[in-house]
Amino acid sequence: EWLDACDRRTILRAEPQSFCAGVERAIEIVERALAIHGSPVYVRRQIVHNTHVVADLERHGAVFVQELDEVPEEATAVLAAHGVAPSVRAQAAERRLNVIDATCPLVAKVHSEVHRFTNAGRTVFLIGHAEHEEVVGTRGEAPDNVVVIETIDDAHTVEVPDPTHVSYVMQTTLSVEEADEIAGVLRTRFPALQAPRRDDICYATSNRQQAIREVAAASDLVLVVGSANSSNSMRLVEVAEANGAEAHLVEDASDIHLQWLRGAHTIGVSAGASAPAALVEELIAALAALGELDVTRRGGVTETMHFSLPREVV
Ligand code: F3S
Repeated sequence: EWLDACDRRTILRAEPQSFCAGVERAIEIVERALAIHGSPVYVRRQIVHNTHVVADLERHGAVFVQELDEVPEEATAVLAAHGVAPSVRAQAAERRLNVIDATCPLVAKVHSEVHRFTNAGRTVFLIGHAEHEEVVGTRGEAPDNVVVIETIDDAHTVEVPDPTHVSYVMQTTLSVEEADEIAGVLRTRFPALQAPRRDDICYATSNRQQAIREVAAASDLVLVVGSANSSNSMRLVEVAEANGAEAHLVEDASDIHLQWLRGAHTIGVSAGASAPAALVEELIAALAALGELDVTRRGGVTETMHFSLPREVV
């Protein structure tokens, strides 16, 4: 591919980007569990949805499994940040596992909302992607009384036994605009619809989307560092596209296609909440090797959220 070596490009770094408090906490839990118990520490599913994070912890002795029946009885097992259904906790108890729960407190909050609503005899609409691990876990709190709403069409057509006793909750990593639109349709169809006390889409998701909106509007191209199974990273790509930029998800610098850069004078850069900041530095270094760069930050919200660790690893 031909690139003009003299091209001078502007990089707009969307702020905030990269790790959220829930991801930092989950990774620290696995690291501390390894320090306390030694290898192997078992982790059910990817601790967070990022290939590099998982590979790094594997190198340090974490063993990732799909289901807890792959974990030897009485071993130490960490539950991933996305949360699990109660049936998974029951399985852990049955195998007498030493469970350390890395569920993000903001996901746990949605679980308790589902509890509160369904205990009050209500049907809960769970706005989210049915196959996503977080949604599988949240729905598992009350499978008979939770209906997953994936699309606007679902919101238009869903039927419930008692339309006067309905509530909704959301997956934490949705597109704020799309989720609001879906909730709006439900509200129109079910005037008695009860909302969660506080927004379910988490602070990290909405801050990153807000920043990338501003960056995308001023960029020719937007690169989002993240893995394809990371919901919040995928949403960042969509939000960038919706705001007028060509946008691509990249695992790391090696995924950059040179033809994307042709004619791209201003490049927005962000990273999903599960993507390490070091990968962004590498990406910018790779771009710097292709021509001169001016790097500036755009966005602005400063995040101060911090979650305390579970007592098992303190
Ligand atoms: Fe938690 Fe939101 Fe991060 S739900 S894991 S703070 S993306």
